[in-house]
Amino acid sequence: MCGIVAALTASGNVVPDVISGLKTLEYRGYDSAGISVMTDSGLQVRRKMGKIANLEAELLSNGLPNSVQAVAHTRWATHGVPADRNAHPHTDDTGEVVLVHNGIIENYAELRTWLRGHGHHFQSETDTEVFVNLIAYHLRKLGDLHAAVRAALEQAHGAYGIVCMAATHPGILVVARMDSPLVVGVSENGTYAASDMPALLHLTRDFVILENGESAVLTASGCQLYDAKGSAIERPTQRCDWTPEQAEKGGYPHFMLKEIEEQPDVLARTAFDRFHDSNGDVDFEPEFGLDDAELRYFSRLRFMAMGTSLHSAILGQQMLAKLARLPGETLNASEFLYSPELEEGDALTVIISQSGETADSLRAMREVQRRGGRVLGICNVMGSTLAREADHLILTHCGPEVGVASTKAFFGQLTALYLLAIRIGRARRVLAPSQGRELLNDLRALRPKLDVLFGKESREAVRVAADYLAGVKSCLFLGRGMNFPIALEGALKLKEISYIHAEGYPAGEMKHGPIALIDENFPVIAIATPGRTYDKMISNMEEVRARKGKVIAVAVNGDSKLAAQADFVLPVPEVPELLSPLVNIIPLQQLSYEVALRLGCDIDQPRNLAKSVTVE
Ligand code: F6R
Repeated sequence: MCGIVAALTASGNVVPDVISGLKTLEYRGYDSAGISVMTDSGLQVRRKMGKIANLEAELLSNGLPNSVQAVAHTRWATHGVPADRNAHPHTDDTGEVVLVHNGIIENYAELRTWLRGHGHHFQSETDTEVFVNLIAYHLRKLGDLHAAVRAALEQAHGAYGIVCMAATHPGILVVARMDSPLVVGVSENGTYAASDMPALLHLTRDFVILENGESAVLTASGCQLYDAKGSAIERPTQRCDWTPEQAEKGGYPHFMLKEIEEQPDVLARTAFDRFHDSNGDVDFEPEFGLDDAELRYFSRLRFMAMGTSLHSAILGQQMLAKLARLPGETLNASEFLYSPELEEGDALTVIISQSGETADSLRAMREVQRRGGRVLGICNVMGSTLAREADHLILTHCGPEVGVASTKAFFGQLTALYLLAIRIGRARRVLAPSQGRELLNDLRALRPKLDVLFGKESREAVRVAADYLAGVKSCLFLGRGMNFPIALEGALKLKEISYIHAEGYPAGEMKHGPIALIDENFPVIAIATPGRTYDKMISNMEEVRARKGKVIAVAVNGDSKLAAQADFVLPVPEVPELLSPLVNIIPLQQLSYEVALRLGCDIDQPRNLAKSVTVE
């Protein structure tokens, strides 16, 4: 989806800085890009449909002057087709005010009619062009850019993250946000704004995060923040622990591959500093904000999320039931609004989101809060909306996830949920300290075991299975118990990056319908590692093979009984059943990656998908 980068310094040229920031946001998916700079003779704008490389070519052929002040944007079309004329930045009809905008102005059509009545002309179909003309209208009346932006925002309804500059106000950028992320970065070299922190990590790691309704005036030496009523406010900067290298490919051909391979480190980053070995317990940071007494108060849990995070949620429910003996339910966040309004009472809602900006999940969070309930957010992005608005928070510390298909963030979520289950289990005294210690040790012991999955033998097994799977049109992923959500996640990974149709099912459901699909061209991917579900999974695999279906099995290394029932085996190390999802998902991620590679798909930016889905 759309990305914003802007920069302001006292001297030098910020154009290369904003272009490289824009490139960091390429993963979000976009169809055009543009930049505007302030010059002594006014504003200049360059916009190009397609990749940022097209914009760079345009800058070379149609030179852009050096400037201390620039705003840039990658656009993902909402109003108006992808085209140069619809790309951002947009200017008002005199070319004096320029705007980049993420989000949607819902009443843009009425505003356009109103502005036409006041003599404004439009060249694009975008809501943003209406918005910038509205700012220009107010600027002419009020003479102050911040006041003009605020006046325009009062007339506009919808979601926005904006950066605005005006030829009449050199040395100033005005930014504002409502339901669309916007951060301000500060350093001794300048002041910056972006829709996402990774876009500015090459310039600063100190950020001021805007809340809904707030605006700010940026100068080269800092920023003045204003609340929704327009009163000046102060807020300390927050330091981001992500590094610029984490947001780069680091020699890998794709972010997705890099992120799959980072998972052993994610385990360490998400978990190990939180171990409280002497008590067999977990120490979350202060933002968790729930002590033992409060944790004992809750008698049921509700998990909500979307997509991959929803699969974590299902597993979280299972882990919490097992280790903390707390009953729970899992809901697709987009459906919660339609659920009957029952008493929240002593329920705790856990909302899981990598980005912390998923509109459906945020809406569900606010609805729980409106109904009087409390929300614990599990999130990867410090300062995101979920991180700021949830009543309680666990950050997953995975580092920035750039590949659109979520991998390491899923792994970090499962790790955090396992820790949460121990924490609540200990608080409720259903886990003794010795049991807590054992569970922590199991997690610690997992790290070296994960290395096997990145060894030669495992990689080769994945490649052989991928050679076969790349030739099929459709397939089924089966798992039971804790590996049913892994079947769902394996199927989602395959379909989103290779476009092969795949469905995940509880294996027990196969005979109730999907078995009709099985023939020699319809394979099944079965997750059949040791545990309570092992024998039943073997029976299901036999049933598939009896109908000539091919079986790709995720199985423990050296399990010959299972290998006899499979055409391909993806070997995994043996681990406690509760941790098997963290291991079993990895070869399935690798399999999807290898299949998509064979099919020549755009792995990091699959068609039609966006990294964070900020509309419902
Ligand atoms: C799939 C994927 C999506 C996201 C979903 C929720 O690989 O990435 O299904 O999991 O859009 O996103 P977050 O976790 O940011 O709320």
